Amino acid sequence: MSFSPPGNAVVEKLDPLRIPRHVAVIMDGNGRWARRRLLNRVRGHEAGAETVRHIVRASREVGIGYLTLYAFSTENWQRPTAEVSALMALLERFLKGEEAQLMENNIRLRAVGQIHRLPAGVQSVLERVTAATGANDGMNLILALSYGGRDELVAMAKNLAREAVAGRIAPEAIDADAVAAHLGTAGIPDPDLLIRTSGEMRISNFLLWQIAYAEIFFTDTLWPDFSREEFLSILGAYQRRERRFGRV
Ligand code: IPE
Ligand code: IPE
Ligand code: MG
Repeated sequence: MSFSPPGNAVVEKLDPLRIPRHVAVIMDGNGRWARRRLLNRVRGHEAGAETVRHIVRASREVGIGYLTLYAFSTENWQRPTAEVSALMALLERFLKGEEAQLMENNIRLRAVGQIHRLPAGVQSVLERVTAATGANDGMNLILALSYGGRDELVAMAKNLAREAVAGRIAPEAIDADAVAAHLGTAGIPDPDLLIRTSGEMRISNFLLWQIAYAEIFFTDTLWPDFSREEFLSILGAYQRRERRFGRV
């Protein structure tokens, strides 16, 4: 399989049988992108939303089953109110603007994180678009919103403890499958590939349990500059890695 963006040479040959089932992305660097241009950070987030559109499309085209995008962390609430409000407004606009595209491309939208903390307007459009796209089966687009891996693990522990106290599960019966089934990502396969842009080499509280055996790629590219070509080249590099899962 090869992909040639209009007017360009073939950028990467991918093995259609080894496309990662689930790709997770820490979309970082919007603020720095804006600062370098002497723009407000919010302009960086707007440019980043454009990148989201390209990467969603590319993912759908190559046959990725699940694309999870880290859009807002539990820690991001501590940013200045003006930036948080601008991000929430942008998110609402993005969801409203993308609904038709998601339907047209048979993409199902899902969300993980503390959805109840999001502004009412965002919650209502999220509800509408997740319901409208609920039967789409071309690709799952999962937005991590007010998401934190530790928060998700704490909630899982509370729920399992409640079920144990209520006598619905024996403590001895709690295994890795039971844990996974009590996370926000229940039913979603673990990421095969994790990408972080902007040169930071950290996880920042993303999918702590789920990335146990993900292949990790860091790139210095700032999210608004992250292109379809670079994405495809990371998919190619992923295919050249040998995944061993602890075996020989
Ligand atoms: C990522 O870009 C977007 C969010 C975290 C919402 P940043 O806003 O973190 O950009 P930098 O890291 O400051 O450049
Ligand atoms: C991680 O980026 C969160 C998202 C991309 C939504 P941050 O910019 O918030 O992470 P740190 O602060 O660099 O760790
Ligand atoms: Mg950042």
